[in-house]
Amino acid sequence: MTNNNTYFVANWKMYGNIADINRSMSVIRLVNQKKYKKKKIIYCPPYTLLKHFYSKVKNTKVSIGAQNCHSNSEFGPFTGFINAKLIKSTGAKYIILGHSENRDAGETDLTINKKIVSALKENLKVIFCIGEKLSEKKKKQTQKIIMKQLTNGLRGIKNIKNIIVAYEPVWSIGSGVVPQNSELSKNIKYIKKILFKLKIRKNIKILYGGSVNPKNAKELAQIKEINGFLIGGSSLNPKKFIDIINKSIN
Ligand code: 13P
Repeated sequence: MTNNNTYFVANWKMYGNIADINRSMSVIRLVNQKKYKKKKIIYCPPYTLLKHFYSKVKNTKVSIGAQNCHSNSEFGPFTGFINAKLIKSTGAKYIILGHSENRDAGETDLTINKKIVSALKENLKVIFCIGEKLSEKKKKQTQKIIMKQLTNGLRGIKNIKNIIVAYEPVWSIGSGVVPQNSELSKNIKYIKKILFKLKIRKNIKILYGGSVNPKNAKELAQIKEINGFLIGGSSLNPKKFIDIINKSIN
């Protein structure tokens, strides 16, 4: 991981409440120090907390992001959903799209592509998740999956500067198992190769996600192709989250 523009994205998934936001203020105060000037700290809580969380961080360097959105960028009769326009109105600057937990719930590459288009239209920065399942890895299909998800997800996308790719092997999410550095480095190089093939010449940031914790952060941060982490479980615990940040940058 380079020391420039390093991203630390907290994906709170379907967890978190006001007390968790208050507890996270210790992290938010800390990262306002000069030492963290070039780091980007982004909290992605559930929708219901976006506005409140934003009110707490708006004068800090910390940003807020959502975890998904409806693919329709216009308002409409979609009971129970929220679109990129509504997310933008909360103060959120980022959005996670294509997370494997949503792919598992039926989201396709095509829907994800539509969601990316709608989020970019609202000037949200997209954290676009890709990654293979264990069964695919066992069948040596990792590269095939990476290629398919990147090609379909980014089809027709012009505003590439607002895209960040997060490589999250599904088998490493919540399992405590992380890929070996050599495997991770190889897969991230492959992602870069595909982006190049897709004529995406801009230097897209690539994050790693899956069981990042204070114990493995230092080692994972050695991989120079990685620009940061997308962190689930450990990000709800302020001590662990700040530990991960510190271990990755020292
Ligand atoms: P864990 O850090 O809990 O494995 O989750 C990773 C993840 O899914 C982040 O989007």
